[in-house]
Amino acid sequence: MTDTEANDLELAAEEEPRTSLSRRTFIKGVIASGAAVSSVGYLFRGAGTALAQPSAPGSVERLITLTVNGQQRRVDVLKQETLAMTLRYKLGLTGTKLGCDRGECGSCTVLVDGVPVYSCSMLTHGVRGREVTTIEGLASPSGELHPVQQAVVDEAGFQCAFCAPGFIMSTVAFLGQNQSPTRAEAAQALSGNLCRCGDYNKILNSVMRASEYVRRG
Ligand code: FES
Ligand code: FES
Repeated sequence: MTDTEANDLELAAEEEPRTSLSRRTFIKGVIASGAAVSSVGYLFRGAGTALAQPSAPGSVERLITLTVNGQQRRVDVLKQETLAMTLRYKLGLTGTKLGCDRGECGSCTVLVDGVPVYSCSMLTHGVRGREVTTIEGLASPSGELHPVQQAVVDEAGFQCAFCAPGFIMSTVAFLGQNQSPTRAEAAQALSGNLCRCGDYNKILNSVMRASEYVRRG
């Protein structure tokens, strides 16, 4: 965060069976060349055949199961793949935005076990067994918006809104810890998120209104 951006925020404070053709076709389509060993291990695991064997020492299983927005998602993940890439380009959860892709802007913020993280800076293999929540997972199954989302709508809280998903996820986590923040506390808590439009006043208006909605239940 630059001094200018910090100043702006300060000012504002005031995601078949193994013999079926479709399954084999799917596997072939999803896994790039060089993954033959790991895909064979997946297809014949537990089948009692001579092909059932453990992964080679030092290799990383690529077909893994993630828990995203309360759903179990089976996905092919490269060893070095970031969570942001998996969410956007493997699971189709494009609500998570990529801005800087280097841990500076907060556009890619998601929750892992309720804690906000920069998904561009976290390896997907690191969230196995953990609960990932994205902006797509906030509204209720019936479509009712999360209080923070509703507050943003009511306050017209963002200009272009590219930064909105990241701010909203950070706000959800923050209000989970502090339902009655001051404007300055909210600004401090959201200092890891940047808005290129500099729309901090309206963003903080939204956070303060969201806190009212959260307290109201
Ligand atoms: S895209 Fe992740 S912090 Fe900017
Ligand atoms: S409203 Fe445009 S980047 Fe924040």
